[in-house]
Amino acid sequence: MPKYFDVLIIGGGVAGLTLALRLDRKYDISVICKSSIYESASSVAQGGIAAVFDREDSFEDHIRDTLRAGEGLSDEKVVRMCIQKGPTLIRWLESLGVEFSRKENSEELDLGLEGGHSHRRIVHAKDISGKEVIRVLARECLKKENIHLFEHHFAVDLISTSKLGFSGRNRVLGVYVLNLKSGEIETFFGGNVVLATGGAGKTYLYTSNPDISTGDGIAMAYRSGAVIENLEFVQFHPTCLYHPEAKSFLISEALRGEGGRLLRPDGSPFMHIYHARKELAPRDIVARSIDFEMKKNGFDYVLLDVTHLGSEFLMRRFPSIYQKCLEYGFDLAVRPIPVVPAAHYFCGGVKTDIFGKTNIEGLFAIGEVASTGLHGANRLASNSLLEGLVFGDQVATYVNNKGVLEKYSGKRIPDWDAGDAVDSDEAVVVSQNWDEIRRLMWNYVGIVRSNKRLKRALRRINLLKSEINEYYWNFKITKDLLELRNIALVSELVIRSAITRKESRGLHYTIDYPFKSEKFAKPTRIKRRL
Ligand code: SIN
Repeated sequence: MPKYFDVLIIGGGVAGLTLALRLDRKYDISVICKSSIYESASSVAQGGIAAVFDREDSFEDHIRDTLRAGEGLSDEKVVRMCIQKGPTLIRWLESLGVEFSRKENSEELDLGLEGGHSHRRIVHAKDISGKEVIRVLARECLKKENIHLFEHHFAVDLISTSKLGFSGRNRVLGVYVLNLKSGEIETFFGGNVVLATGGAGKTYLYTSNPDISTGDGIAMAYRSGAVIENLEFVQFHPTCLYHPEAKSFLISEALRGEGGRLLRPDGSPFMHIYHARKELAPRDIVARSIDFEMKKNGFDYVLLDVTHLGSEFLMRRFPSIYQKCLEYGFDLAVRPIPVVPAAHYFCGGVKTDIFGKTNIEGLFAIGEVASTGLHGANRLASNSLLEGLVFGDQVATYVNNKGVLEKYSGKRIPDWDAGDAVDSDEAVVVSQNWDEIRRLMWNYVGIVRSNKRLKRALRRINLLKSEINEYYWNFKITKDLLELRNIALVSELVIRSAITRKESRGLHYTIDYPFKSEKFAKPTRIKRRL
C-alpha cells in the first residue's frame, strides 16, 4: 500500500531536520533516512557553523570572504541572504537546547577560526558541533506528531511525470523506497518532495564522509531530469588522520585556527612557500600544497603539529579528536600526527533557486546535495551547516506561504516491479566495481587533474556503468548495488563536468589549463534528456 504525505523529506541531516521543524504543524511530513537519524554527514561535522557574532566582524566581511572563496561562481544574492540569516537561526537552535561552547567564565560564544575567514566566526560545540545540533533537532522531531520518521529506508528513485511518459511540465509525485529491514520496495507519494540526502564523498577512495554519502540524491535527481550544476568542484579536506584503520578520520581545520602547523616528515614547514596566510590559506590551496609536497617528495603523509596547545587545552577544546587520536596511538600534545587530504564536500549538486526549488515542479533540494549558489567554485569552511540551516528554513518559508502541491491519487502509477530479477550469488562483482570506481576517481579525478587522466576516467566509467546496468536489471536490488549504481553515475557526471571546464578555478585544478579564464566564469550544467 502506498503511503501519502504532504511533504516527503529524504535525508535527516541538519537541512532536512530544520525543514521538518520549521514547516507548519498542519502538514503531514515524512523524514526518510537511509540509516539511523543520528548517522549523517552533519552529525560528524566537527568545525561548526560560520556566523557573524564577533564585535569586530561584519556581514560584509563574511560575504566578502565567501565570495572570494567562490572565485566568481557564487550568487551574491544567495550569499547575502545566507549570511544575514545565520545569527537568527543559531539563536533558534539555542532556543531548542543546542549547547554551543562559551568563552571561559562568560556567556559569550567561543568563536573558532578556520581557513579563508578574516575573523573568528565559527560557532561550535567543542569539536562535536554536528552531533550536538543533530541531537537536539532529532529529539525535537521525534516529539512532533506530524513528523513521521522512516529510518533504514533507502530512496531508490523519484516518481516523476516525465519518467512515466505523462505530458506537461515535469512534476515529482513521490519516491520508491527500499525498506532495508524487510527488503521490500515501498511507494511514498508526496505533495512536495525535498532532497536532503547529503554529498557523494564515497565516490573517492579516501573520504572524510560517512558510508552513506553515495550521491543518491544527485543520481535520483539527474535520472528524473533535474539540472545538475558544478560537480567538478569537489573539496578535499587537507587533514585527515593517516592510519590504516582510521578510515580518513577528520582532523578539524579549527586546530590550524589555533596555530597548528603543517610540516614535512623531517619536521620542516612548507606552507609559507605556497600562500601568505600559510596554514590558514583557503582549503583548496592547503590541500593542493600537501598533495604537491607528497607527490614531489614521495611522502605517504605530512605532519600536523599542535603540541604547543598542551594537553589541558586540547582535551577541553577538542576532546573527541584528542581521544580518537589516542586510540590510534597518537598523543596530539606530545608529537605531530600524520595527516593526508581526503574528499570532503561536493560544492555542486542539484541546481536550485533561492527557495531551494529545482527545475522539476514540486522537487526541492537542500544541504550538500544542492547547488544553491552559496559556495560557487569553493566552499568556505563551516559555511555548509549554515547553508543547511538557512535552506531548510527557506523551503519551509516557501511551503508555509504557498502551500503544498496536491498529492497524486496514484491510480496510474505502477507499484515497483521487480520483474524477473533473482538473488545474485556474485556479490564480488559489486564490491570489485565499487573499489574500481573509487580508486579511479582518486587517481584520475583528484586534487590535480589533466585531460589525459579525465578522458581515461570517462572511458573506464562508461564501461563500468554498462556492466552495473546489466547487473541492476537482472538481479534483485540490494543497498550495495543501489549505491554502486549511484556512485557510478555521480562519478560520470563529475568527470564530464571536469572535462567541460577548460581552466583552473577554485577546487578544479588541471595541469593542462593552469589559469582562470573569463570564458569559463559560469557554472557547468548537465541535464539528462528524457
Ligand atoms: C573542519 O572542522 O575542518 C571541517 C569544517 C568544514 O568542513 O566546514
